[in-house]
Amino acid sequence: MQNQTFSSPNRRIYLDNNATTFPSAKLREKWGELLEVSGNASSVHQEGRVPKTILRDARKKIAELLSCSPLEVIFNSGASEGNSSVFNSVFQSAFPARNEFLISSVEHPSVAKVAESLKSRGAIVHLIPVTRDGKIDLDFIKKTVSDKTALVSVMYANNETGVIHPIKEITQIAKAAGSLMHTDCVQMMGKCENNFNDLGVDYATFSAHKFYSLKGTGFVFIKNTAPWLPLIFGSQERARRGGTENITGIAALNIVLDEIATISEKIQHMAKLRDLFESTVQQKINGVTVTASNSKRVCNTSSLVIEGVDGDTLLMSLDLKGFSVSTGAACSSGSPEPSPVLLAMGLTRAEAQSSLRVSVGWANTEEEILFFVDTLAEVTTKLRAMNEKEKKDANVC
Ligand SMILES: Cc1ncc(COP(=O)(O)O)c(C=O)c1O
Repeated sequence: MQNQTFSSPNRRIYLDNNATTFPSAKLREKWGELLEVSGNASSVHQEGRVPKTILRDARKKIAELLSCSPLEVIFNSGASEGNSSVFNSVFQSAFPARNEFLISSVEHPSVAKVAESLKSRGAIVHLIPVTRDGKIDLDFIKKTVSDKTALVSVMYANNETGVIHPIKEITQIAKAAGSLMHTDCVQMMGKCENNFNDLGVDYATFSAHKFYSLKGTGFVFIKNTAPWLPLIFGSQERARRGGTENITGIAALNIVLDEIATISEKIQHMAKLRDLFESTVQQKINGVTVTASNSKRVCNTSSLVIEGVDGDTLLMSLDLKGFSVSTGAACSSGSPEPSPVLLAMGLTRAEAQSSLRVSVGWANTEEEILFFVDTLAEVTTKLRAMNEKEKKDANVC
C-alpha cells in the first residue's frame, strides 16, 4: 500500500458510505468559504442577504434536480425529521376517514417507528413482505390498499442490501386507491441516476450527510397538492418548518449538488469497485454469499453472509486493522440482535449474524478494495480456525 491515498481523512479505509459519507473533496476545498456565511437568512440587513441567496440557490438546484417547483422543497435537519413530518402530516389530515398505512418490512427505523407510534392514535399499519432477494410483494400492496389507505411508504433503496424498489409501479397502485405515496430517498442521492421525475410520489425525504455533505441538513419534497402540517412551528420555510435555517449545511449542500448533477462517472466508478469486491471476495474466501445478488441494487452496496464467522467479531477485527465496515444499519450496530431487515427477508438468525455490509463511496480506490479483500480473507481464516478450536475443546470437555 505505497503512496496510498485514503478514503477517510483519518488515514483509514472507509467502506461504510451508507452509514455516512465524508464531505466531498470539492466541499473540503471550499470549507473556509462556509465559515464566512453566518448571518440569519431572515434578517433584512447585509448579513441576512448572503444566506438568503444561498438558500434560494440551493432550493432552485434541488427543484431542477427533482423537476419540481422550488416551493415544493422544504429544508430540515435530515431524513429522520422528514419521515416523521410526512407521517404526522398525513395522519393528522387523513384521520379518521383514512387510517391505514402500508410500509415495507425493510424500512429504516425512522419510518418503521413513526408508523408504529401512530397505532396508539388509531392507525392501522400493514407491513409489506419482501422475498429473500429483498423484492417487494406488489400483490400484497394491490390486495391491501383500499379507500381506508392514507399512505403507502416504500424506500427507494434499502440501506443494508442496496435493493431498489419499483417506486413508480407502487405509486400507481397507491394512487388508484386514492392514497398518498411517500418514498425515503436517502440511499438514492449520490449513487443513482436521477429518475425522480418518473416516480410520481407525493413526498420524498433526503439527507445531505449520505451524499458527501454535512450532518444535520436535509430536505423534503412535498407535492403542492399533498397535505403538510409542520412538526416544528415557526415562520421559516413559509411556516412549514420553523427554526433558523442551517445555513452552513445548506451552503455545503449547494456545493455538493453541483457534483450530483454529473453523477454518471461516479456511479460507474462505484459499480466497478463493488463488482471487483464481490468477484474477488468470492474467489478468495469460500462460503460467501452476496445477499439479494439477483435483485436490482444501487451501485455501491454489498451485503454478504460469511459462513462460520460472527459479523460483529469480524467488524471489530477489521476495525483494529484500519477498515470501517458495518454489520447492518449503523444505528443498530452494537446491538447483539441480528438485523431486522435481513430477518424480514427470510435469512436465518445465524445467516443474519454472519452478515457484513460493505458500501463503497466516491473516494474509494481499486487498491483499497483489493487490500480490504486480502485482509478480510486473512481475518476470516483466523476467526474460523478459532471457532473450530473452540468447538473441539468443548467436545473434549
Ligand atoms: C434509508 C434511510 N432513511 C433514513 C435515514 C435517517 O437519515 P438522517 O440521518 O438524516 O436522519 C437513514 C440513515 O441512516 C437511512 O439510511
